[in-house]
Amino acid sequence: MARFLLLLLLLPLTACGPVPADDDDAGDDDDDTPYVATGPWADLSFTERIAYMENIVEPAMQELFLEFDPVEFEDFGCETCHGEDADDVEYELPNGVTPISFPLDVSEPGREEFADFMDEVVKPEMAALVDEQPFPQGDFGCFACHERE
Ligand code: HEC
Ligand code: HEC
Repeated sequence: MARFLLLLLLLPLTACGPVPADDDDAGDDDDDTPYVATGPWADLSFTERIAYMENIVEPAMQELFLEFDPVEFEDFGCETCHGEDADDVEYELPNGVTPISFPLDVSEPGREEFADFMDEVVKPEMAALVDEQPFPQGDFGCFACHERE
């Protein structure tokens, strides 16, 4: 009841302004406000980046990874790219994603398909999500996420 009254009080204030971003990054949204990024990636604060990752990057990338291999990426989440201790390292990358080097060792079965998926899907999609150009046109390459072997 209290919450309902509060909403009523706030309505006139928000009705004509820009729609505020739903920046509730605790994952327990109790409203239907769609997430709106508060600006281009480069201008987002650390907290805004977390919300952007949660609302835009993770769902988009999860879909792609699951399509590629639903079993391996069953538990896809922040830690898939950022590592288990993501919080401790303040989401700095790379952090624990399989080290690679070039020429890539594709002797293991399935590794070449993995590399193609990375090159053709993951790299360009991820680059676009953070307003970058994929390597070699731009700087966003494999080592944005992977450790160097
Ligand atoms: C598919 C891989 C991937 C997933 C999944 C992912 N991220 Fe990211 N994240 C990145 C990449 C790549 C960057 C660096 C982007 C850049 O600045 O070039 C990044 C950057 C960030 C940053 C900015 C760090 C800084 O120093 O500015 C934060 C914060 C962050 N991620 C949080 C999260 C959270 C929270 C989740 C889960 C909800 C998540 N990420 C899921 C790939 C991922
Ligand atoms: C947005 C982040 C991101 C980018 C960019 C990226 N990868 Fe990956 N890659 C991952 C994640 C996450 C995994 C799965 C987790 C792991 O292997 O640690 C993975 C797995 C792989 C694997 C399988 C590793 C194994 O177990 O043998 C290969 C091979 C690979 N990537 C190659 C590449 C290549 C080559 C590029 C550049 C063309 C690239 N990746 C770009 C995030 C990325």
